[in-house]
Amino acid sequence: MSADHFPSARVHRVALVNAVATLLLLFIGGLVTSKGAGLAVPDWPTTFGYNMFLYPWSKMIGGIFYEHSHRLVASAVGLLTLTLAFWLWLREQRKWLRWLGAAALAMVVLQGVIGGLRVILLEETLAIIHACLAQAFFALTVSLVLFTSQEWTREPQKIELSEAARVRRLCVLTTAMIYLQGFFGAVVRYTGTGIQLHLLVAALVALHVALLGARIMRLRLNEVKLLRPAVILMGLLILQLALGLGSYIGKFTQLGAFLPLFAIVALRTTHVVAGALMLVTSLALTLRSYRHLTFPHSLLRQGLPPEQFSV
Ligand code: HEM
Repeated sequence: MSADHFPSARVHRVALVNAVATLLLLFIGGLVTSKGAGLAVPDWPTTFGYNMFLYPWSKMIGGIFYEHSHRLVASAVGLLTLTLAFWLWLREQRKWLRWLGAAALAMVVLQGVIGGLRVILLEETLAIIHACLAQAFFALTVSLVLFTSQEWTREPQKIELSEAARVRRLCVLTTAMIYLQGFFGAVVRYTGTGIQLHLLVAALVALHVALLGARIMRLRLNEVKLLRPAVILMGLLILQLALGLGSYIGKFTQLGAFLPLFAIVALRTTHVVAGALMLVTSLALTLRSYRHLTFPHSLLRQGLPPEQFSV
């Protein structure tokens, strides 16, 4: 792939701002539910009958402040995604990336509609779908950051590795498991049930992250593009387990009564955000493993399947 494909630093910057704004949106969304402010504004797309953008700041008090801020930041993310999709469509040469930008736009519109319907129909299932789609959309925005970066337009530095297939598979499995864990977390969050399943998957996620981290470190690669996300993922896992424990204590045990409300809200909200960060870190590692790891050519020439060389 030649450097000509680099869509321009400006498109990359929009993708970056979009991903950061989406993370902020996830944080505010987490805050909205942790504070029980999800239904503070009963109508949609209007806010108490006002055009959403003209709702007076002086009336943004209590739960309305959180819910209305969530809608405003979501609109900003929608606008950024529209700009990015438009720009990619006009300037990007990689066809698949143009379509990925369009898919992000479709997804953000769908997410907005589901969020709105959740308010109108008072459906918990829609809240769970909204939470899962939010994580998937954040993952897509981070992928767009990677794909529009110079890193993705330069020729990748290939690392020949007999166990390339296994490492990639472990990456995919870990990412999928973290995403599934987000779904079970949303079920716990909105229904108060299913904590046993969430704990079981937490143990599986922890095992897979540890295995993946250990395997990447054992390879002693000079390539920090794989090592760095692996180390960050392990750090996030430790943080996430601690935040999960705090959320559990705050939500399900008598000890929660001794914790100040702001601490419980902070624990539950950061647990949602750290989950999203784990997902995108694992995804970045997965994408990079596919880009950089390759089977040794000498072994391939012997005509044996790569699996036979895995350690
Ligand atoms: C790798 C580990 C974990 C990940 C990736 C993870 C992820 C998540 C996510 C993303 C949510 C929120 C979903 C949403 O509403 O959008 C959640 C909720 C929750 N998680 Fe975890 N979790 C992990 C481990 C744990 C552990 C170990 C515990 C308990 C000891 C725990 C307890 C909870 C509780 C109580 C909630 C509901 C919080 C609330 O109602 O606000 N989690 N989890």
